[in-house]
Amino acid sequence: MSNRILVTGASGTIGSALTELLTEAGANFDILRSSGEPGAGVRVASYKDVAALTEAFRGIDTLFLLFPLVENKRELARNAAAAAKAAGVKHIVRSSGAGADPTSAFSLPRLQGEIDAVIAATGIPTTFIRPASFMQNFVNFTAGQVQAGTVYAAQGDAAQSLIDARDIAAVAAKILLDPAPHAGRAYTLTGSESLTTQQALDVIGAAAGHPVKYQPVRFEDAVAAMNGMGMPAWMVDLFDSLNRVVAAGYAAGVSPDVETLLGRKPISLAQFAQDHAAAWKRAA
Ligand SMILES: NC(=O)c1ccc[n+]([C@@H]2O[C@H](COP(=O)([O-])OP(=O)(O)OC[C@H]3O[C@@H](n4cnc5c(N)ncnc54)[C@H](OP(=O)(O)O)[C@@H]3O)[C@@H](O)[C@H]2O)c1
Repeated sequence: MSNRILVTGASGTIGSALTELLTEAGANFDILRSSGEPGAGVRVASYKDVAALTEAFRGIDTLFLLFPLVENKRELARNAAAAAKAAGVKHIVRSSGAGADPTSAFSLPRLQGEIDAVIAATGIPTTFIRPASFMQNFVNFTAGQVQAGTVYAAQGDAAQSLIDARDIAAVAAKILLDPAPHAGRAYTLTGSESLTTQQALDVIGAAAGHPVKYQPVRFEDAVAAMNGMGMPAWMVDLFDSLNRVVAAGYAAGVSPDVETLLGRKPISLAQFAQDHAAAWKRAA
């Protein structure tokens, strides 16, 4: 049976690791770009344009669906759902977020849950992967603070279980290559350890070659700082809700799903830190 795959979000943190794995596996896949010129293996359409998206989804059996963190994410999800139905996609692997729940009191998991519901309502067999916060955030967002030796966050003393995006990609690849057994399933993707922010920074600091201190800040001070940086209000609200989720201990759980699916332990924070130490090293 044919299994033509389309990877959306292919240029992103998860997507770039995923396309490497699919290439290694010899999978029959294309990628979606939001702009530019189409070419061999490259389809071009924005989530903003249902007609273009429907064309881009044509002939696709299995769709890896990842939305960027943007204000109109719900609308983009409705567009993608309509396009997937119109194009006859047979299975969707939707990259969501840990704790996704449309009834959550917290904005970010509520948003993820609402989008999951939009995708489920297509009636297309779907698998939800729900990753915890990425270890890669220490490289993509807080590398400067790590390098300077102090990381500011409003996460109290709670522990959380971070995941390496390479493991998210590995799980996604496994499902995309043989989706049928995973139809209707939802997997929570975490690492295998739950660490407080200071414990995580001790691991990162050991690889970086200098101590890294956690400086807890109050929720309202984090909001003021994000506002001060010119962050839009909708994004401040989502990040504030994430701080509250973590500080309340809701992100501390360790899920067995990565190990069950991959047959190996998730990548440890120590391994991640070793692999990315160059991002935090100070000039000699
Ligand atoms: N960071 C975390 O800790 C974390 C944890 C859990 C869940 N998440 C979720 O993971 C997602 C982000 O994943 P990521 O970090 O791998 O992605 P990313 O690096 O932020 O990349 C976003 C991707 O979205 C694509 N994109 C942007 N606008 C588009 C449009 N209008 N139409 C089609 N594609 C578009 C981009 O493709 P082009 O380059 O072609 O524009 C890009 O490949 C978010 O939904 C976030 O909520 C993040």
